Amino acid sequence: MSGTEAEPRVSGTEAEPIPLARPVLGEREEQLVLDVLRSGRLSLGPLLAKFERAFAERVGARFASAVSSGTAALHLAVRAVGVSDGDEVITSPFSFAASANVAVYERARPVFADIDPVTLNLDPEAAAAAVTERTTALLPVHIFGYPAEMEAFERLGIPIVEDACEALGAVYPDGRPVGGRGHPTAFGFYANKQITTGEGGMLTVGDPELKERVDSERNQGRAPDLDWLDHDRLGFNYRLSDIACALGLAQLERLESLLAGRARVAALYRQALAGIDGLQLPCPDRGGSRRGWFVFVVQLPRAADRDAVVRALAEHGIPSKPYFPAVHLMSYYRERFGYREGEFPVCEDVAARSLALPFFPEMSEGQVARVAERLRAAIED
Ligand SMILES: Cc1ncc(COP(=O)(O)O)c(C=O)c1O
Repeated sequence: MSGTEAEPRVSGTEAEPIPLARPVLGEREEQLVLDVLRSGRLSLGPLLAKFERAFAERVGARFASAVSSGTAALHLAVRAVGVSDGDEVITSPFSFAASANVAVYERARPVFADIDPVTLNLDPEAAAAAVTERTTALLPVHIFGYPAEMEAFERLGIPIVEDACEALGAVYPDGRPVGGRGHPTAFGFYANKQITTGEGGMLTVGDPELKERVDSERNQGRAPDLDWLDHDRLGFNYRLSDIACALGLAQLERLESLLAGRARVAALYRQALAGIDGLQLPCPDRGGSRRGWFVFVVQLPRAADRDAVVRALAEHGIPSKPYFPAVHLMSYYRERFGYREGEFPVCEDVAARSLALPFFPEMSEGQVARVAERLRAAIED
């Protein structure tokens, strides 16, 4: 394991492959996880509430509930705002499939609306145009860690769930951290995220009754004042173990340095990729919004052959990934809901050109330069 202060392990030399993502784990993680193992309390122990409190404090939320994944957090969030059979949930087609899937879990219809070509987030005007009498929730996604336009969504007066699975550390234009607006907000801790617990997630809420409901539903519907096997509602096993919470606490302690590392790498990429004709870089922060850096995704020039670029990079030990494909064009969504090409042209154009490059906090200047040089050559060839 490498510590916070450690030199990057992967050098920028041509021979060594560069990973797409890589977590930073050190002695603190080892120590807290070992403490849990030695305590014998591997789940529903003291680390759960400790991790939740520390997380809530960091994002300025009243309450936080740790769960087994970002998807679990989103699922409990749509239930918390009352989504059920036949409802419509308006969300972004430019996302990870989970943000739409959770509406389907509750037998609701995910209704997509197009995205803003600059921020790549759900376009508030398109979302407003998609509202019907069946709309019960809006589910904006803070894509690639860039905050969605929450004030515009809030003006629509419809319950909101925020997908912040990629956005820990992001800041809304009014200076508040993402997660602190009081809407149920889901975070994810998969290994490529700003902080990781291996698998895991967190749901922040502003209302004590929702906190109680979420805690019960993640634990098989058990009420806090009932006996272990007494269940008064339908629930799930969405618990996060104390081992994972220990990892999460240690990661949270180093969050500021992890975010600074990602921002440093993003700035290096921005410099190194400047001036490539037609190449679109992630939008810079504007109007007080701050991105919580998660991935570095570029959009290739329209004339470029993306598959050929991916192959050319791979030949030099550089992984890259089309990221994201449009959700509405995935076969499940086409078949189940009848979505077709041409319905969300901005999303489809972005999805056809987007490419995630290697990105992690300890990436060296040499590695960034190598990726940039090879990408430039692959595009310009
Ligand atoms: C936008 C978005 N939503 C939801 C999720 C789901 O999170 P998890 O993989 O932890 O279930 C992810 C994770 O990759 C994501 O990127």
